[in-house]
Amino acid sequence: MVRTLRHETERYGHYSVAGEFIYDRPFLWGSKRTGPDLQRVGGRYSDAWHVAHLMNPRDVVPESNMPAYPWLDRPLKDAAIQTKMRRLNLVGHGYSEAEIAGAPTELEGKTEMDAVVAYLQVLGVHAPKN
Ligand code: HEM
Repeated sequence: MVRTLRHETERYGHYSVAGEFIYDRPFLWGSKRTGPDLQRVGGRYSDAWHVAHLMNPRDVVPESNMPAYPWLDRPLKDAAIQTKMRRLNLVGHGYSEAEIAGAPTELEGKTEMDAVVAYLQVLGVHAPKN
């Protein structure tokens, strides 16, 4: 969460607003922050950069103390994806029937790494611009 502190808005962009978190379940706000705030990281790096960084942060940031997440490079398997989308619709998400029907095909050939990178690339893209 980008706080309303000048050094944060100068580094990350507009402070966080409530609407950015409307689909978070559970909310991921916290007060502990070890690495940089990721709330505005979407679009800042290429997908390839994220993959390299998650596989081994030291390959792209030599002084990094971030742990590596190489096991994300495994097939994305979620037999319950359509059930989850329907459950999320019950609490206000807006997945269409076509999106739900197409979800298993969308996941084919994807890895957990692809999913995390897709998530990172959307962070902040709907935030107010400074
Ligand atoms: C204990 C866990 C973690 C620690 C200590 C940590 C620490 C850091 C640090 C120090 C950086 C600065 C650049 C670098 O040193 O590589 C960084 C950047 C970054 N981390 Fe992590 N990290 C952690 C977990 C994660 C996870 C789980 C993700 C993704 C889901 C992630 C994604 C990123 C990204 C995208 C950046 C680039 C941010 C930017 O340049 O604005 N990190 N992290």
